[in-house]
Amino acid sequence: MIRAAVVGWPVSQSRSPLIHGHWLKQFGIDGDYGRIAVEPERIDRFFARFADSGLAGCNVTIPYKEIAARLADHREPVVERIGAANTLWIEDGQLCADNTDGVGFAANLDDRAPDWDKQRGEALVLGAGGAAAAVVDALIERGFTVRIVNRTLSRAESLAGRYPGRASADVISAANRYAATAGFVVNATSLGMKGDGVVDLDMSVIPSDAVVTDIVYVPLVTSFLDAAAARGLRTVDGLGMLLHQAVPGFTRWFGRRPAVTPELRTLIEADL
Ligand code: ATR
Repeated sequence: MIRAAVVGWPVSQSRSPLIHGHWLKQFGIDGDYGRIAVEPERIDRFFARFADSGLAGCNVTIPYKEIAARLADHREPVVERIGAANTLWIEDGQLCADNTDGVGFAANLDDRAPDWDKQRGEALVLGAGGAAAAVVDALIERGFTVRIVNRTLSRAESLAGRYPGRASADVISAANRYAATAGFVVNATSLGMKGDGVVDLDMSVIPSDAVVTDIVYVPLVTSFLDAAAARGLRTVDGLGMLLHQAVPGFTRWFGRRPAVTPELRTLIEADL
């Protein structure tokens, strides 16, 4: 039996077991995907001995994405750029690390708003935390010039500083100014999660052909997306990012490439 899991502290909130469990069943693979809660004082040892754990690999969630990147023997280029990993596997006895959040973000948009990356204008990213780092990286990969606005300016500056000439930083209160010329707008802050907090952005200034998305998916339609849709803009919810980021890990561990289907979406939506 092939075993994989999600590793974090805590991990009870993770929906990854539902996603991978669905695919294991669909393919009829003799495999298991569980949850492993590792206390902070044990995490170094856990990764150091991963090759002997009996796991083919794992997903990594909060608060261990940075430490996983640091302790891996081999890092994919995206992990070097972002400094965080969410997908680990063993290859030739070595612990290898990837970060699939950015490709998951882009694949969701490819799926739900084809040609989203052909928009005129730059991308506006609200937020500069861990999730925003993956989003910015994916947007740069797709050829966008990116404006990053954040409550804490220094965080936006340090994120933008990784992409000289391609990304720039400002305070979040300047968002409306950049929104007026943006072809793509994403909320990558935690504002709106479980209805907590509201993103202060004037949707009326955004060009009418722009695509707007949110990384928050609880609720599925955030007040941010609701306001964008009311203005007539093309919107994409954040659930697909969670589903698509799981594809590369499953493929590596279990040897089959799964699809993100309406059935899977319905299954996870029912759990939100
Ligand atoms: P994640 O890994 O989910 O991105 P994070 O790294 O803690 O979590 O980042 C949270 C993001 O939401 C940050 O951009 C944060 O802004 P700061 O860098 O200024 O903290 C943003 N955020 C959280 N609460 C916010 C609020 N009340 N107003 C504005 N931005 C907020």
